[in-house]
Amino acid sequence: MPSDGVDPASEAIQEAGNGGIRSISTTPQILPFASPILPHADSPLEKLRPATYFSARPARPLSHIVMNALTRCLETFWSSSIGKKLVVALTGIVLVLFLAGHLIGNLVVFMGPEPFNAYAYFLHHMLHGVGIWVFRAVMIVMLVAHIVATVALTRQNRAARKAYEHPATIQASKSSRTMILSGLTILAFVIYHMLHFTARIGNEYNSLDRYKTTLHGVKGEVHNAWLMVIDGFMWAPATIFYVIAMTLLCSHLMHGVQSIFQTIGFRSKKASSLIKQISIGYALFIWLGFISIPLAILVFGFGR
Ligand code: HEM
Repeated sequence: MPSDGVDPASEAIQEAGNGGIRSISTTPQILPFASPILPHADSPLEKLRPATYFSARPARPLSHIVMNALTRCLETFWSSSIGKKLVVALTGIVLVLFLAGHLIGNLVVFMGPEPFNAYAYFLHHMLHGVGIWVFRAVMIVMLVAHIVATVALTRQNRAARKAYEHPATIQASKSSRTMILSGLTILAFVIYHMLHFTARIGNEYNSLDRYKTTLHGVKGEVHNAWLMVIDGFMWAPATIFYVIAMTLLCSHLMHGVQSIFQTIGFRSKKASSLIKQISIGYALFIWLGFISIPLAILVFGFGR
């Protein structure tokens, strides 16, 4: 019995009856009394006592409990290597699909100025101009998550490998080094490409009347994206950089698409060779499709 004469057990029950939610705990220091008749935590008598009892903690809001549980789930997911692999794979799927969509849209360039400018106009004006910003936001989140998870995964793998290096892990590290190198080149390319054609910085695509045109069914002048692409690739250094970047993109995709299948659990021994063929076929389709535009313009004079 505590010195103030109140039995702690009945006090706890009374508080529960008053509507206070109690947490269950076995921590000795949260007892609001220090009774000589209560056994010490290390005492053998302690083992005879029921393992749990009510403590007098104040009630916590449900939102707090849910947030705590969610944070713990995310922490556990992120700290495991399979969690980070899943992030790389799922964001990779979105980026791979974007490439196919972007390529098909870009191939419209071969249909001439009117269809290509109409396509560019549609992209900028879908959902009253909001669509392109939603799309950009999603793509930035995907790209950043893809890079952050890859870097974290590489660090975690390196730390784990130090302990026991053997030929298989050395081989894996070579291919992941190639992936990081090609990935960084693609990132540099995307930054250059957006400055080149989206922000149009360091060129005259925004300022000259030459890059203004009209479109059937659209009031006023619109941007002549078709002519911008033609002029853009007439400059040899840009075309060379595009071709190099597309080639590294192709190598990144060959390995990356196979990894996606492996991470999401589709790569059995039986399916392995089919998956390899799909990945190589897809990477070649993206490579040939993208390089065909700058090469057609610079080498074969398309659009001139
Ligand atoms: C020959 C190859 C390519 C051509 C001709 C091309 C063409 C274009 C054009 C014309 C734009 C600007 C659209 C506009 O604002 O009107 C654009 C934007 C963009 N391209 Fe490409 N592209 C090529 C390859 C790529 C590749 C390989 C990637 C990714 C690795 C890529 C990623 C992007 C991104 C992220 C944007 C910005 C979209 C936006 O926010 O407006 N492009 N591209």
